[in-house]
Amino acid sequence: MRTQVAIIGAGPSGLLLGQLLHKHGIDNVILERQTGEYVLERVRAGVIEQVTMDLLDEAGVGVRMHEDGLLHEGVQICVNGVRHRISFKDMTGKSVMVYGQTEITKDLMDGRAAVGAPTIYAAYDVSLHGILSDTPHVTFRADGKVQQIECDFIAGCDGFHGVSRKSAPHAAIVTHERVYPLGWLGILTDTPPVSEELIYVRHPLGFALCSMRTPTRSRYYLQCSLAEDIESWPDERFWEELKPRLDEEARDRLVTGPSIEKSIAPLRSFVAEPMRFGRLFLAGDAAHIVPPTGAKGLNLAASDVRYLSQALIEYYAEKSEAGLKHYSDRALARIWKAERFSWWMTMLLHRISEDPFDQKIQLAELDYLFRSKAAATVFAENYVGLPY
Ligand code: FAD
Ligand code: DHB
Repeated sequence: MRTQVAIIGAGPSGLLLGQLLHKHGIDNVILERQTGEYVLERVRAGVIEQVTMDLLDEAGVGVRMHEDGLLHEGVQICVNGVRHRISFKDMTGKSVMVYGQTEITKDLMDGRAAVGAPTIYAAYDVSLHGILSDTPHVTFRADGKVQQIECDFIAGCDGFHGVSRKSAPHAAIVTHERVYPLGWLGILTDTPPVSEELIYVRHPLGFALCSMRTPTRSRYYLQCSLAEDIESWPDERFWEELKPRLDEEARDRLVTGPSIEKSIAPLRSFVAEPMRFGRLFLAGDAAHIVPPTGAKGLNLAASDVRYLSQALIEYYAEKSEAGLKHYSDRALARIWKAERFSWWMTMLLHRISEDPFDQKIQLAELDYLFRSKAAATVFAENYVGLPY
């Protein structure tokens, strides 16, 4: 088999890249380790920035997002039982959209099926070869046979645990990492959200987040320890731990119900530099991870794909390598700003330190955020996504 771009991973970055390349007549094949059903069932991101909305439109898969997505013009932050609102609209003129990653994945998969572009699911033992040569290729096992794809470029869109980053020459890659001593325990329920806007909660008992997917489906998160066993979290315990962290109004409005999904995600900051190794380009979680607090992971994946798709389109249309040459630097400049914001928001809202000094500093910073128009503007600019 031969293609122009072999894409490893059918998460949001791989699917979006595939769709944008296809639109510009660039052949691509996606290799995904899991089945399509498995990929669709992973409940993850919920908040998307304008850049992500624009790219989904450009890829021709934005119709359902505009119909079903919920535009949010602000966010609420609850500190020790008192709620404050930060308006994105007033501070930046922009909004974010609540539209689940599962829905985005479905729209992208449907879009790909509609144009007949190939995705090979259940592709095992994916292995990258010749990335530093002009003739790279990928081998894998599917339908019980070892197969090979020759290509011009390989896009490593296979997430944090994928094979692509590990295929980069060790001497050529530098990684930066911070592991936080906590995780998020998340549940999805078919109950109406407590508020029309997201509520990020800072409380002595620990962080909580009240989010949503639709007016009848809620997503809640609780800070938990890394050692937590999900089996020891029956739904009743989740609700009992959430309630005391909320303000009175939210507590009164909280409708509890059975969870339809429950999972634990560890919090981590991670960046691999550079994002290009010869003919291999990394994008999305394959190259970087942010703790979920700033809602940046999927949006960063989309912004990588924006730069990478533009560079590849330019290469094939004009035989120019300029975009490919600058891809890593351009992407990393944006990534580090999102890393900083996600780290800052994580440190601001979680119970991480038992030292009263650290807790006083957190409260002072939050008080400043609510009183200073400049601080609120910086927050809003970062949350809705910095301009290019
Ligand atoms: P992934 O989604 O990880 O996709 C990679 C794909 O590659 C997977 O399908 C995987 O199966 C496949 N793969 C892996 N290894 C191989 C292999 N060897 N061969 C072939 N295929 C392979 N982001 C936001 O922007 N906003 C949010 O509100 C938000 N909330 C989040 C909440 C939680 C609880 C979590 C966990 C994450 C959240 N994120 C959020 C982050 C977001 O989900 C990720 O950043 C996003 O999924 C990254 O997409 P990706 O395509 O790069 O990687
Ligand atoms: C959601 C996830 C996040 O990480 C976040 O910051 C906001 C919302 C969500 O899943 O809805």
